[in-house]
Amino acid sequence: MNSFWNESEKNKINFPKIKNNIETSICIIGGGLTGLSTGYYLSKENDVVILEKDKICASTSGKNTGKITSQHGMFYKYLIESNGKDFAKKYLEANENAIDEIESIIKNEKIECDFEKENAYVFSNTENGINQIRDEKKAIEKIKKGKCKFVDNIELPIPKASAIKFENQAKFNPVKYGYGLANCIINNNGKIFENSKVTDINKIENKYEICVNEYKIIADKVVLATRYPTINIPGYYFMKMYQSTSYAMVADVKEDLFNGMYISLDMPIISFRTINDNGKQLLLAVGYDYKTGVEQTVNGYSKLEDTVTKMYPKAEILYKWTAEDCISLDKIPYIGEYSNLMKNIYVATGFNKWGLTTSNIAANIIKDKIQGEENEYEEIFKSTRLEPIKNKDEVKNMLKEVKESIILSKFKLPKESIDEVEKGQGKIVQVNNNKVGVYKSETGEIFTVKPVCTHLGCELYFNNYDKTWECPCHGSKFSYDGKALEVPGIKDLE
Ligand code: FES
Repeated sequence: MNSFWNESEKNKINFPKIKNNIETSICIIGGGLTGLSTGYYLSKENDVVILEKDKICASTSGKNTGKITSQHGMFYKYLIESNGKDFAKKYLEANENAIDEIESIIKNEKIECDFEKENAYVFSNTENGINQIRDEKKAIEKIKKGKCKFVDNIELPIPKASAIKFENQAKFNPVKYGYGLANCIINNNGKIFENSKVTDINKIENKYEICVNEYKIIADKVVLATRYPTINIPGYYFMKMYQSTSYAMVADVKEDLFNGMYISLDMPIISFRTINDNGKQLLLAVGYDYKTGVEQTVNGYSKLEDTVTKMYPKAEILYKWTAEDCISLDKIPYIGEYSNLMKNIYVATGFNKWGLTTSNIAANIIKDKIQGEENEYEEIFKSTRLEPIKNKDEVKNMLKEVKESIILSKFKLPKESIDEVEKGQGKIVQVNNNKVGVYKSETGEIFTVKPVCTHLGCELYFNNYDKTWECPCHGSKFSYDGKALEVPGIKDLE
């Protein structure tokens, strides 16, 4: 399903598909905001090629909230406790600088992307939540005096809530911004190719050969900006992250909306902002996350729609979509060298759902590394860090279903046959003592796949609400007929 942002720019120019071999200094894999921001900086002084498997900004960058903020939920108390005050201060500073930097790119390059300054709030209306908000405020005061305010009323139509407020944050249309960056890259003589899926990366002497089917790009340096790195070894990022899916919808609520951008502290976490759509105010709500691949028993779209219509009874839902994000185990993104064992490949991943400021931070760190310049935030986000994981909950979260999936895939043969699959549903059934993934369309058409993930071989689960095969191990998604949709799986199902 197209997001509101993608739909608003669907008539934008198409970039060509790669049709010949190319030599370049830098090859960036991934045409989302991280790839485009990195390309924007680097193309000023280098020759750059960007390869996008689909359309630019079609994936995570076109499906997010469009909130540009250093207020990453309730994060700073956690960060001080896990990494110390100086670390938390630098993290905040890096994100604040990124807001300013994005604003100055938009102004300097005259990018029309509906950029507006806006205040950001994390709110709660439970006693426990409000106490946590007070504690978070105290923590932030320790690293930047006056940065935030405690407020005891907010404009959202919910029972009385309190919130922590960050002033001078911003919002925009991320896809319009992406096309603006792409335009600058082309003006700098950079090259962008769409529908050009990388199928292999090989080291050849001191260069890299990037294969897009039969074509090859020879590059001195490579940037992996694919949300989830698609090279497994030696980076081992699949052991350091998991993926989470959120539901999103845009609604015409047919009444006045609020000022500010909001995210709830209490479960379920839901984010709200407004969109000015040619003079009409619309509501964007995103939430009801789940770990990708974990069986869903309730439809997240319905839950989100219930929340929206409870707040705005006349709301008409105009768009809905899901978005996937990578969650790092210590909640800090991995940015920098892909591995100490593989030089001249750079990575940016594990953005923990705060990818807009982080895409700019990542672009600056990688640009500085490639150009041999110092970056004061490099150590904060160091991708090759080996510190023990302090966030035990996230480790458990990652390991649980991986173990279950591997055990299931080895030993259990389903009892059901194809005949028992209902119309509009998918499941794994037994055919001649083999496991077969079956989806039966509403009209009874049958699609079969081998229900084994093409990333590292875990057994897939069928999400009956989204009609996708999902992997519990690292969150790849495939369409009901087996097309690879979301990385790290890049090959279609058999
Ligand atoms: Fe890694 Fe499926 S995503 S095995």
